[in-house]
Amino acid sequence: MDRIGITGGRPLNGSIEISGAKNACLTLMPAALLTDEPLTLTNVPRLADMKTMRALLESLGVEAAALQQGRVLAMGAEDITNHVAHYDIVRKMRASILVLGPMLAREGRAQVSLPGGCAIGARPVDLHLTGLEKMGAELELRDGYVHATAPGGLKGAVVEFPIVSVGATENVLMAATLAKGTTVIRNAAREPEIADLAKCLTAMGAKIDGAGTHEITVEGTDRLGGATHRVVADRIELGTYMIAPAITGGEIELVGGERGLVTALIEKLEGADIAVEDTERGLKVRRRNGVIHAMEVTTEPFPGFPTDLQAQIMALLTLAQGVSTIDEHIFENRFMHVPELARMGAHIDVHGGTAKITGVEKLRGAPVMATDLRASVSLILAGLAAEGDTVVSRVYHLDRGYERVEEKLSACGARIERIPD
Ligand code: EPZ
Repeated sequence: MDRIGITGGRPLNGSIEISGAKNACLTLMPAALLTDEPLTLTNVPRLADMKTMRALLESLGVEAAALQQGRVLAMGAEDITNHVAHYDIVRKMRASILVLGPMLAREGRAQVSLPGGCAIGARPVDLHLTGLEKMGAELELRDGYVHATAPGGLKGAVVEFPIVSVGATENVLMAATLAKGTTVIRNAAREPEIADLAKCLTAMGAKIDGAGTHEITVEGTDRLGGATHRVVADRIELGTYMIAPAITGGEIELVGGERGLVTALIEKLEGADIAVEDTERGLKVRRRNGVIHAMEVTTEPFPGFPTDLQAQIMALLTLAQGVSTIDEHIFENRFMHVPELARMGAHIDVHGGTAKITGVEKLRGAPVMATDLRASVSLILAGLAAEGDTVVSRVYHLDRGYERVEEKLSACGARIERIPD
């Protein structure tokens, strides 16, 4: 398994181009199942997760072609020849559950392996299932699979989620586009990836109002057509690389960054005396003077502070002046980066869902282990700021969500390299 080696302690200066959003792509790709016409996605990030989702869709009969070195993905689901999403693919990537809604809506039947949990939590899919049942789906859980049918097709319904769920909102939204009648999704997720999905579905002929708000209304149609859609910028990659100059010093321009994607992070960074300025190409971030002020962070659904940036802001706060706290409200086990940061000299106490971070003068490089996607990049950030050498192992986690991380960072002066096994 590859590792990444970093020699830290150098300020970063330069620019980083933000790629298309992994989490938008993971719901846009299954949308191809909703139509027998071609769906083409541009600004596709070249990530392991895209390869996994493509393999899953091809196993269902979707024809897919990667063009322009993988940045464009042309898909055609003229005929769905297999209605079973097998465990061996689904277990690798939980977002595979997002083929359930579209396949059920288009074909009236689907068998999808239950994704199972992952490192950061149990990650149930009960809200996906109850939402589709509300629309008339008949679901049976057997042998670790959801056996779903929709005799006579799905029907429009009012689906009210007890808690905000990005994936469940996406599954129901996609299914609703081909349901008979009107669907209203209440307590819908408001993440930018939802608005991006709605934009693509609308281009395919769907009738959607309210995407990006807590209430989304969908008028079902008989069929959808093809479209070409540009994937929205990845706000989590953007936020991650905004924290890089904040933790190392220096100044980085994030090309393609949009302020509206990261408002909660900007509020925290500016509160810690980190400057964030708009430029023609995106956003520019620099630490004003040597001090990082402590802060309180609580993770919440969008537009609150994203849980996917929690590990990264924690790395920054290990060097803040004073005591900071982070309350992780979305996932039950998302502090696995804490012991690894502690190996680098960070001072963090965890009680339940709250981490108390007491800033230290400096971090020291050390061998550390990635445990999940966002934890792995927080270790990279800490390594960039630490004195001495850090080696991050199990970077396959990293490759799921960050395109060419060592290239993007070394172009800004970081001493970082991939150590092939
Ligand atoms: C999406 O996961 C993202 N993944 C996650 O990003 C992100 O952390 C999460 O949203 C929250 O923003 C993709 O978009 C592919 P949820 P998702 O349903 O949809 C509970 C990353 O690092 N829940 O919004 O699975 C759930 O356990 C990944 O890129 C249920 O109880 O998240 C969690 O506590 C990690 N039942 C909360 O809701 C359900 O049926 C929010 O989960 C579904 C979710």
